[in-house]
Amino acid sequence: MTAIKLLLVIVGCIILLHQVLARVVRRFWHFPAPAFISHVLDSKLRRRVQPPEKLIEWSGIAEGLTVLDLGCGSGTLTIPYARAVGENGRVCALDIQPAMLDLLARKLARLENEASNEHGRGKGAPPTASLRIQEPPANVGLIRASAHQLPFAANSLDVVGVTSVLYEIPDPQQALHEIKRVLRVGGYLAVTEMFMDPDYRLKSTTVREGQQAGFILDQAYGNFWAYTVRFIKPEAS
Ligand SMILES: C[S@@+](CC[C@H](N)C(=O)[O-])C[C@H]1O[C@@H](n2cnc3c(N)ncnc32)[C@H](O)[C@@H]1O
Repeated sequence: MTAIKLLLVIVGCIILLHQVLARVVRRFWHFPAPAFISHVLDSKLRRRVQPPEKLIEWSGIAEGLTVLDLGCGSGTLTIPYARAVGENGRVCALDIQPAMLDLLARKLARLENEASNEHGRGKGAPPTASLRIQEPPANVGLIRASAHQLPFAANSLDVVGVTSVLYEIPDPQQALHEIKRVLRVGGYLAVTEMFMDPDYRLKSTTVREGQQAGFILDQAYGNFWAYTVRFIKPEAS
């Protein structure tokens, strides 16, 4: 066996062992994903596996809607969601951990600084720099709360996106009932899961959990490794 093959086998075994251990621990011990994993959440590899534009389409996020990014983490998806809903829409970024919300707040502040520096440079700035710049979205609200008790009025949201979060919540059914309360009739719940997440569950489990909470299955997208299941809040619920 060549050295490269041996190295690949070793790396594969380490990843497998890590996955098995993490899954066993997570079955018995529920705690929110630590803030340092934001490097993984924000990585290029993650964007390749779960492109934000795909999640936007699959979740039914569109211009002018009010969206809850539940368990937003460091906001990997919050900012693309905010751009997709535009200035007539709004994104509420909710997380239980202040450290995650701080990371998102810093990201927004960084965009703000870059935009104002760019504007300050004026007409003399090289054109490539102004092409790179992206205005910070002004339609994002940061909220610290638990998925078990959402601080929103009944029927007040159009879409709730729950990405790599549902099975990290100690009581997913309670969270799903809260989501159903705050969604408007006909609104979407989009549950997204990725295999690399130690809390990952199969698509069939997610369909069952959603239906058990009284949602109607609308669409299921993706594959075994990364999927989104979109539900609709029915009229009589
Ligand atoms: C794996 S991260 C995913 C972050 C983000 N959705 C993404 O896909 O990049 C899970 C997030 O859910 C949050 N979370 C876990 N339990 C929660 C709860 N009960 N209520 C609200 N947020 C929670 C964690 O703090 C963490 O930021």
